[in-house]
Amino acid sequence: MTITGRGVVARRAGEPAHVEEILIDPPGPGEVLVRVQASGVCHTDLHYKLGSVGNDFPYLLGHEGAGIVEAVGEGVTAPAVGDYVILAWRAPCGNCRFCAIGQPHLCAASLNAEPRMRTADGVTLSPALGIGTFCTHTVVAARQAVPVSTECPPVQACLIGCGVMTGIGAVLYTASVRRGSTVAVFGCGGVGASVIQGARIAHAAKIIAVDIAENKLNWAREFGATDLVNARDGDPVAAIKELTGGNGVDFSFEAIGRPETLLQALWARDLAGTCVLIGVPDPTMRLDLPIQQFFGLGGALRVSWYGDCLPSRDFPMLADWYRRGDLDLDRAVTRVITLDETEPAFEAMERGETLRSVVHLPDD
Ligand code: APR
Ligand code: ZN
Ligand code: ZN
Repeated sequence: MTITGRGVVARRAGEPAHVEEILIDPPGPGEVLVRVQASGVCHTDLHYKLGSVGNDFPYLLGHEGAGIVEAVGEGVTAPAVGDYVILAWRAPCGNCRFCAIGQPHLCAASLNAEPRMRTADGVTLSPALGIGTFCTHTVVAARQAVPVSTECPPVQACLIGCGVMTGIGAVLYTASVRRGSTVAVFGCGGVGASVIQGARIAHAAKIIAVDIAENKLNWAREFGATDLVNARDGDPVAAIKELTGGNGVDFSFEAIGRPETLLQALWARDLAGTCVLIGVPDPTMRLDLPIQQFFGLGGALRVSWYGDCLPSRDFPMLADWYRRGDLDLDRAVTRVITLDETEPAFEAMERGETLRSVVHLPDD
């Protein structure tokens, strides 16, 4: 039976998104219907709204969600009705050329549900990153809904679905940060803060946070940064060298998505160091790279999508780390808002006031 929900719809590029009535069809084969309990407001939702991800308007925004499975489609054996889940925007297919050789985190045919949601006037919605969590309900592929412990509540758990996983995964999987190593993080927003936290969990000896905003640097320290560099005060590469005995760091992370900070992250490395690009660049950006200097430093430049994670393995693990007190998600939630307050949340994000605003949907 088709149900009626409420969701945040971006109709046209650059215009405010509004809450609308949404018609939601039942889940098809291999799909599940999830009642959303909480959803983080991520930078990528803003990119969707501005039209910089694609032009498949109208979009149903939101892709960082947690909730309860309410119905399952034909052939679904897991998750079950009533399961508490975090939604993943990638779900390995199990059959493609990457899955076939044991590298499912690189899956080239990640699973999504068929379009099951439309506006009251009958227009099919494109859910952000194939999820659409700024909504009372959403339909996803069964493997996108990953059961986790209820001891990690929805407002915190939802963050694992995108920003936290991306940052922690970049440290643990893309870079494989070793204990005792030195780390620099460029950009300490929602993603960079999780990189810092990942480096702390990986027992890095020195974690240097670089940002241009004092509030972000203060949060960075609370997440485990050992040294703070305000890039407005001078060349951050020189500051990092000074903090590392002139050598540079073993691992640098770019969590902004700009060519100038990527270059800084490359030059902040020690010999044979690893630089990881996490920030998403826009199509106009170019890198002017002195190749001899790049070659001379050795090491690696790696790109990290979604922290090279495997949601079915990693979501329950991170939820458990939260329960044990090893992963701080409470501090990442700057504001808890209602579904009707996503526009002010985007504005606060643009002003740099928040790590994350989280939409909390009532349980009734
Ligand atoms: N040097 C240092 N820090 C900078 C600079 C700069 N030149 N320019 C911006 N920053 C800082 C901002 O002050 C902010 O704290 O980078 C941080 C970016 O954080 P957010 O805007 O909160 O973005 P976030 O959600 O963390 O995402 C970062 O990762 O997933 C991608 O699309 C996302 O590209 C984005 C990036
Ligand atoms: Zn996101
Ligand atoms: Zn695959």
